[in-house]
Amino acid sequence: LRYTRPGTSRPQISQVTRRRFLVAGVSAAISGIALAKGSAVVRAGSGRPGTDLAGEPLMEPPIRSSSGGLLQTSLEARTVSHQVGGRNVLSNVYERMFPAPTLHVRPGDTVKLHLSNQLEDITNLHLHGFHVSPSGNSDNVLLHIHPGESFDYEYHIPADHPAGLYWYHPHFHGLTTPQVFGGMAGAIIVEGDIDQIPGIEGARERLLLLHAIQLKGDSPIAFFDRNQVNFLRTVNGQLNPTFTIQPGETQRLRIANVSDSTWFWLKLDGHRMHQIAKDGNTYKRLVPRDDILIAPAERVEVLIQGGAPGSYSLRSLPFDQGFAVLPETVLATMVSQGSPVASAPLPSSLIPFNDLSKATVDRRRVITWQVLPRDDPQRANFLINNKLFDEDRVDIIPLLNSTEEWVLQNPSNVFHPFHIHINPFQTISVNGKPVDANSYEDTVSIPPRGEVVIRTRFLDFTGKFVFHCHILPHEDGGMMSVVDVVAPNDPLASTAVNAEGTNAQLLNSLRGNLFTCPVASSS
Ligand code: C2O
Ligand code: CU
Ligand code: CU
Repeated sequence: LRYTRPGTSRPQISQVTRRRFLVAGVSAAISGIALAKGSAVVRAGSGRPGTDLAGEPLMEPPIRSSSGGLLQTSLEARTVSHQVGGRNVLSNVYERMFPAPTLHVRPGDTVKLHLSNQLEDITNLHLHGFHVSPSGNSDNVLLHIHPGESFDYEYHIPADHPAGLYWYHPHFHGLTTPQVFGGMAGAIIVEGDIDQIPGIEGARERLLLLHAIQLKGDSPIAFFDRNQVNFLRTVNGQLNPTFTIQPGETQRLRIANVSDSTWFWLKLDGHRMHQIAKDGNTYKRLVPRDDILIAPAERVEVLIQGGAPGSYSLRSLPFDQGFAVLPETVLATMVSQGSPVASAPLPSSLIPFNDLSKATVDRRRVITWQVLPRDDPQRANFLINNKLFDEDRVDIIPLLNSTEEWVLQNPSNVFHPFHIHINPFQTISVNGKPVDANSYEDTVSIPPRGEVVIRTRFLDFTGKFVFHCHILPHEDGGMMSVVDVVAPNDPLASTAVNAEGTNAQLLNSLRGNLFTCPVASSS
């Protein structure tokens, strides 16, 4: 046995010492790497963290683009020493770099992706926000890719897939936090219709991946303690990098929060941000904003127009996450310089979406997000509807093509960013107040002691996938559930309500085929 699921038994001693990581005890400091001791690492100088190399030009990760309808690429997961804000950091990353390479694809493309696991732990891969099959070697987060193994993923992106900003990260339950926290994250850009809208077309694009990492003293080892607030908040792995704009020029910023558990509350001094997209879904209209709160895993795209010559800070304002108040920080600096250009008009209406607020709801469910008092640090205490995650249980069985309304209730004192795989949703109300949605999204924060109502359609794909809290220590602690979308002619469909909450193997024997994990036999 390589791995013990949280909540079912205590992690084996050898695993605890090997990983220096308590799966369920989120109050414990955890390391962002699998094996730190004995690794040869160049120690960073004694410079105050956060000051080194501030003001360097913004760097963007290398781009890998599809051509002729195919993107064939590979990602190697490995624990290496790399640079964060001018310091050496030892952590888990893809392709020996953070952020990982940016993948560029188009609707209708096929992606063939070879994942090689050179970590000391199990991993796997998730395309966050993608509307693709959740089964087999597609976006299947129930796969376990063991150390030393590799796996060939293949994704078929539908021809009508929304264009915008997505991201990829590992998703093995129990170890998602240290792997993402260490820096296993990269952007995926789906090119398409939004890029041709006048006012957006041709605008200079910049990718800003927001992440937060912690180091302890001079140690280069990524270190996680959520009771501490001394996170280094980085943009593309840099501390306060600089980018330029000409006065009057329109630029398109694609911004993703790829941190494991940190909110970013963005404000750009002296400028309005004109939001055009959320979570890869184009807005129906341009929405001017003075500030934008971005929960873990959320993405926004904004247009900005350069102001009078000068330097402007892109800040993250102080925000009370419920478990920690992060102080204000300057994330990046925008310098407006050079010859002024006449500002092109901004677009007003963008791309409409199929509004579900008036749709007929086939099924309504109440889903409760619970944090239990932390009495035993070894005990997982993050539940959904009184249950810890169990990949062998199916919690919800929606019918293919049905419309469901979910009431997400949060009786706890902290935010839970709700995220569901495969199908985006429309937010209908927050704390009882109707929301005039601008687009679908794939992540929404449920406020402390609050309630969010969403509607979604389970289109195109049957099979099992998950929804969860995107505070990754909550997800690893058990706050995740399994959905199994079935076709109306599936034998399960008629018994769906009674079958929910039962063992996945029983359900599959009802269907006459036994559940097998494609790579379980190799462990
Ligand atoms: Cu960002 Cu379940 O994923
Ligand atoms: Cu996801
Ligand atoms: Cu949560």
